[in-house]
Amino acid sequence: MDRRKPPSCGRFTLLLRNLFIAALAYAFVVEVLHVYQTGTISPFSKGPPKKSTGKGSKGGSLSGGVNWRLRPATLVESINDTFMGKRPDVDTCANYTKLIETCRGSLNGLEKMRNVYDCLDYLTHHEDDYFFVPENRPSATGPSYKSIEDAAPPSTHHIGDCPGPVQLYHTYWTGPATWRVELFVKAYLYTQNIPCSRLHVWLESDGFPNAVPDMMKDPLFAKFLPLVERGDLVLKAWKFPRRIPLPKGAIAEDPAYTKSLASKGSIRRTSGETRSPKAEVYIAEGVVRMEDGSEWLVLTERQMTFLPVAVSDAVRFIVLHLYGGVYMDMDVMLLRDMRPLLLTPDHNFAERWAVHSHPGDYNTAVMSLNANSSLSSYLVRGGIRMGLNFHPRIIGRMAWKDGRSEEFAMFETGLFDPIWGEFNWGREGRCTVPCFRDYGVAFQGTKGAIKDEWESYDGEPLSERVYQRELELRSRVSDSPSSSPEEAELVPVEAPAMERGDVDVTYGGKPYTVKEDKYPPNNRTLENFFRGSWSYHIHNQWAKHPQPNSWFDVAQKAHDGFLRGTRKNVYGESWAGPDIPAYDRWPEFD
Ligand SMILES: *[C@@H]1O[C@H](CO)[C@@H](O)[C@H](O)[C@H]1NC(C)=O
Ligand SMILES: *[C@@H]1O[C@H](CO)[C@@H](O)[C@H](O)[C@H]1NC(C)=O
Ligand SMILES: *[C@@H]1O[C@H](CO)[C@@H](O)[C@H](O)[C@H]1NC(C)=O
Ligand SMILES: *[C@@H]1O[C@H](CO)[C@@H](O)[C@H](O)[C@H]1NC(C)=O
Repeated sequence: MDRRKPPSCGRFTLLLRNLFIAALAYAFVVEVLHVYQTGTISPFSKGPPKKSTGKGSKGGSLSGGVNWRLRPATLVESINDTFMGKRPDVDTCANYTKLIETCRGSLNGLEKMRNVYDCLDYLTHHEDDYFFVPENRPSATGPSYKSIEDAAPPSTHHIGDCPGPVQLYHTYWTGPATWRVELFVKAYLYTQNIPCSRLHVWLESDGFPNAVPDMMKDPLFAKFLPLVERGDLVLKAWKFPRRIPLPKGAIAEDPAYTKSLASKGSIRRTSGETRSPKAEVYIAEGVVRMEDGSEWLVLTERQMTFLPVAVSDAVRFIVLHLYGGVYMDMDVMLLRDMRPLLLTPDHNFAERWAVHSHPGDYNTAVMSLNANSSLSSYLVRGGIRMGLNFHPRIIGRMAWKDGRSEEFAMFETGLFDPIWGEFNWGREGRCTVPCFRDYGVAFQGTKGAIKDEWESYDGEPLSERVYQRELELRSRVSDSPSSSPEEAELVPVEAPAMERGDVDVTYGGKPYTVKEDKYPPNNRTLENFFRGSWSYHIHNQWAKHPQPNSWFDVAQKAHDGFLRGTRKNVYGESWAGPDIPAYDRWPEFD
């Protein structure tokens, strides 16, 4: 090797070079954060769509020059809410190998990774291929499980019996309830197997000790209190634990532990932890063994003082390690029953970071881990060891380097975030149905706001007949308050309630005309909203509220129709539970 001293000007060059490297590193970190937060690589990416600010005139309720109360909600002849068929049998499991190989291709080739259309097509039409009921039905394994026949269905005050293990769903939130919380909870209620699911909402309580009581008093959350009472929702105070229990033997399997044993020959006490009783022994950095043989991860005083900014990155790993189940960010809207994914033994999974090809590039917006497992212990310990850094791609690469990523399934974006491939590195094959090229468009209800929205739709053209009849009906209602037989047929269209006795059906505003409607009715129904995906990830691309007749508005109408007893859910079920008030109307659109 050449070991000559650098020339005299070398030091300055070296300084320049180091500065340059530092600047590059900084830019990289900023970009990674940006991509993480927005899901797009461009630093100039658009934020959420602009809201309309036009205030309606007093009592007139005008929106783009028409009366919103007369606006037809849809063009579709008859909305098919039950397009998923029957809910999967309570014992159904998913074959991860099939889901991965069909949507990814081979491990090295990743031939299908970018083709989300084909992945969704498979998920929609080939349940028979990737769902199976194991010979030893999970419902038959627990002595305390009710049989499928004897399990009580949910009712107003009782959540019902699950014939089999109950699955835990976790999410994390800071601050008061908002529309996002409502969308998340309602989509959960609309799609999941209610007696067999519990939703734990972890509220940041390290900085806000009253987070749970505050949420119980939150006016927006009030509509869900009957579900807290019934047990569907559990508000949990998130406080970073000082000690985390480990299952026996987990440490011995941890490569970092074996390595440290080999290199140091002995384990030193972690500095900073001063008040440990005699009865416990340090067996590895940050790990103690108690007298009773139990092993614990122990955070130092310093770590407890400087908790990470990205607490939510850590919460999911720790909560799943302690309780198991699935974690979802609050900006994930559920579309399908998750149970078959969670019932599968070794249900350890997360999604891929967009269409990154690295096998360690996980995204943890949707993640599942077996509680108290060797893998969950390894991941939690790894994050703590790296300075409480639980960024998914850091943790993921660590797991990959240590040869543990095979235990941690990586699902493609089609399963949980079907449009992520549209960004940055592009998709292959056809666009999805609907075709989105931007996260913001799900909020938009203006005419033509989503370019080529239906470009991949191959189904029967959607009829506009009911919409025409509805307009006729409305004009008739305004003429005569008597009921007509046609009115009864229109129930599935979900028209805003028109009071028989109301004389002034324009409510002081202009009569309805499509031409003047800023948010006209359209073809959108949940049936064509990323069929096959288990969820849609909003990626924090939030507008304040969805515009009328936007995709999210369509979802809201489906949720509310179900929760208020006028519509069925995607599995053809009726809501059996307390009455849940509808989403608020937002004055910005009146
Ligand atoms: C609803 O959609 C599903 C799946 O596309 C189909 O099997 C079912 O027959 C449809 N129901 C009606 C009433 O059209
Ligand atoms: C899952 O699919 C793989 C690949 O097709 C197959 O080899 C395996 O037997 C399946 N597992 C189950 C439990 O059906
Ligand atoms: C995990 O282990 C801890 C300590 O051993 C125990 O308290 C807890 O109940 C276990 N959790 C689950 C979900 O098994
Ligand atoms: C209705 O759906 C068809 C696809 O069948 C599409 O071509 C058409 O543009 C849609 N109309 C509206 C108003 O969205």
